[in-house]
Amino acid sequence: MAGCKMMFVCCLLLTLLAMSHGRENPKVLTLSDDDVSHVCNPSRFMKLGLEMSKFVYCDSSLPYEVRAKDLVDRMTLAEKVQQMGNNAQGVARIGLPKYEWWSEALHGVSNVGPGTYFDDVVPGATSFPTVILTAASFNKSLWRNIGEFVSTEARAMYNLGRAGLTYWSPNINVVRDPRWGRILETPGEDPYVVGLYATNYVRGLQDVKGTENTTDLSSRPLKVASCCKHYTAYDLDAWRGVDRYHFNAKVTEQDMTETFLRPFEMCVKDGDVSSVMCSYNSVNGIPTCADPNLLKGIIRGKWNLHGYIVSDCDSIEVMVDGHKWLGDNKEQASSQALTAGLDLDCGSYYGDSLQGAVLDGLIKEKDIDRSLKYLYIVLMRLGFFDGNPTFRSLGKDDVCSVEHVELALEAAREGIVLLKNDGDTLPLNINKVNSIAIVGPHGNATSAMIGNYAGVPCKIVSPLDAFTALNNKKVTFEMGCSNVLCADNNNGGLIFTAMQSTKDADVTLLFVGLDLSVEAESLDRTDLLLPGDQTDLINQVAATAKGPVILVIMSAGGVDITFAKNNPNIKSILWVGYPGEQGGQAIVDVVFGNYNPGGRLPVTWYEADYVNQLPMTSMQLRPVESLNYPGRTYRFFNGSTVYPFGYGLSYTKFAYKLVSSTQKLDIKLANHQHCRVVNYLDPKFKQDCPAAGVDQLDCDANTVTVEVAVQNVGPKDGNEVVLVYAKAPQGIAGTYIKQLIAFERVFVAAGGTQNVKFELDPCKCFNIVQDTAYNVLPSGIHGIEIGNNAAITTTLQVNLHH
Ligand SMILES: *[C@@H]1O[C@H](CO)[C@@H](O)[C@H](O)[C@H]1NC(C)=O
Ligand SMILES: *[C@@H]1O[C@H](CO)[C@@H](O)[C@H](O)[C@H]1NC(C)=O
Ligand SMILES: *[C@@H]1O[C@H](CO)[C@@H](O)[C@H](O)[C@H]1NC(C)=O
Ligand SMILES: *[C@@H]1O[C@H](CO)[C@@H](O)[C@H](O)[C@H]1NC(C)=O
Repeated sequence: MAGCKMMFVCCLLLTLLAMSHGRENPKVLTLSDDDVSHVCNPSRFMKLGLEMSKFVYCDSSLPYEVRAKDLVDRMTLAEKVQQMGNNAQGVARIGLPKYEWWSEALHGVSNVGPGTYFDDVVPGATSFPTVILTAASFNKSLWRNIGEFVSTEARAMYNLGRAGLTYWSPNINVVRDPRWGRILETPGEDPYVVGLYATNYVRGLQDVKGTENTTDLSSRPLKVASCCKHYTAYDLDAWRGVDRYHFNAKVTEQDMTETFLRPFEMCVKDGDVSSVMCSYNSVNGIPTCADPNLLKGIIRGKWNLHGYIVSDCDSIEVMVDGHKWLGDNKEQASSQALTAGLDLDCGSYYGDSLQGAVLDGLIKEKDIDRSLKYLYIVLMRLGFFDGNPTFRSLGKDDVCSVEHVELALEAAREGIVLLKNDGDTLPLNINKVNSIAIVGPHGNATSAMIGNYAGVPCKIVSPLDAFTALNNKKVTFEMGCSNVLCADNNNGGLIFTAMQSTKDADVTLLFVGLDLSVEAESLDRTDLLLPGDQTDLINQVAATAKGPVILVIMSAGGVDITFAKNNPNIKSILWVGYPGEQGGQAIVDVVFGNYNPGGRLPVTWYEADYVNQLPMTSMQLRPVESLNYPGRTYRFFNGSTVYPFGYGLSYTKFAYKLVSSTQKLDIKLANHQHCRVVNYLDPKFKQDCPAAGVDQLDCDANTVTVEVAVQNVGPKDGNEVVLVYAKAPQGIAGTYIKQLIAFERVFVAAGGTQNVKFELDPCKCFNIVQDTAYNVLPSGIHGIEIGNNAAITTTLQVNLHH
């Protein structure tokens, strides 16, 4: 395809451009090189031959809205359109500098966007685990804490002229299909978990302490600006000839409300994010960046975004060359995107075509003004114009600080999931292990551990590094294959050598799994198996090793390791995601019991055959009976799995006791509030008043509380993730099997008890989204299930009546 050669490993094409144009002259990047930290600085204006007092946009006594309008009104049309791409050109005539909008901070400050770079002054930044592993901690305060540290490093690098203020992270697409190549970037398959991750990470990045009570959210200060992406129904990159630049996701309004939009809604409403990025794909025939309902209607209208909407990089070009949307030319596509509500183009289409579009009468210049004002207000909130004294003192020492690197280690430990532990083989007693055989393509993993959208890590501790650093241990290392694809192992020679290395070792650790050569942006999987001869390697080593065999899997998506689960020679299995720069150390800490693992799988691990039962292009979450497609995710898939969503063991045992729970909600509807119809599997389940729309209920007045006592009945201190699920009343057709409605990670000392109290909003926890897309609270007896491993249940009776 002609389009394809112009594109686009999301953002890679532009990265290359930026390297050739922007980076040779870092002076254009920020203001700091001129030894001034913000635009509205009189000496800076003087150098430009201007008098600052004449520029109302620099008058800090005025509201941002007024100042932004003044700034925009000073520009000519030609100047305006040059500010609407990621590489905004600035207008020297009026004192406005250039600004590069594109920086990334998915799990640490990254140099993927051209707004940020590393060099001798700042050689690296803290590289936290990839998001899928951090998500597995199910620890909201950790998610926020990481955001805070990342934004501190970003702000420090901004002060040093090495980074921007606007970060296009996090990626909050729900993992609908296990083949998706970008699972590593996301918090998994549950929309509520994804939404809470988004809210906490965004607040960590954006919030400025001490300004929590700002009532005018359009002027709320920002530490850095975050961006929730990719909006929406985007989780297909390239699968069997279908790619995201051409893919039209056919999505029902039911799935849209219940699954695809939910994390974005939480990100905007609860996280108060300052930007949303629209995606490459179309949804129901319309490219997302050109859809006025999705952008203006929902993000701005219904959710009330305080900030700007940006396109994925070159999305408008994708509309023209990929989707061939309405046969548009450049001007037409840009006009439709602007009219739909797209404020900033990552790319050059806006700059190249918006002036012509105005002159041709396709759009109003006023629409350009409106978008520019959204953009400048965000920059004002960041202190780009006035500076921000809170962050002025941040510098080199705040990047890769001891505290930040320690949190990267803590995050990896918290996320690691113990999948199997026969005979309590783990933790190993360090005094009884003298020789350790490290085997497998990830035994010395380095860059694999930091995944994609990474920066340069401060330093990286591979598994091999961490095990060899132990005192007085004999450590051997054999790859077993030449790389993760494991297609070339020298006719079994490498496997044979690996087997030999385990014959005398007290313990064997096998490091296997996937990496970016298997699952990545622009690369979806076609199967759920370990690549190449990895399975052979594992089986052969398991058959010959002298000591216990511990299998350590690095991956984002699930792999069908049923063979290993069932192999009695493999005593223990750990899933470690891609664990970040301290990954090796975190694994050592878990293996020897310095840390008791408590992570839980944020995605279902399906059996390999699952992907033969449905194409990746089918967007429905519910089973499609006419086509024999099974459901997707734990909410709708009722078949057997390798490991279910939420699975994870501990070195100790927990028991739950229900302390108290709301048993009944009796809600009297006013005369004008109507009972809604519900589809029942059998008329015998029918309720008098089957349901009521959640938007007409007083949800706050009907909070449901559930309190459980979590008792550590085992021998070791431990961390337990308490998961609370709801089940809809019996007999309602087409609803979820169960859905997560709350969770809390708690530390409980051996022998101790910790009470955990949940306050549940019935409209968000016990609602169902019907096939008509009505969001209702149904009458009847709802189930409440607490825990995966130690499940207890209770019920909530909802009685709606007039
Ligand atoms: C949650 O994460 C924080 C770090 O932000 C950590 O201090 C705390 O111990 C964690 N909680 C549990 C129960 O692991
Ligand atoms: C914000 O408001 C809360 C509740 O009124 C108050 O306790 C808190 O101190 C306020 N914070 C700031 C920074 O003013
Ligand atoms: C481990 O990886 C590092 C970084 O790639 C490399 O320098 C080192 O030689 C590797 N060690 C072994 C034993 O392969
Ligand atoms: C799972 O769902 C399918 C499709 O709705 C249904 O045909 C099947 O009976 C269900 N299986 C179980 C074990 O409930």
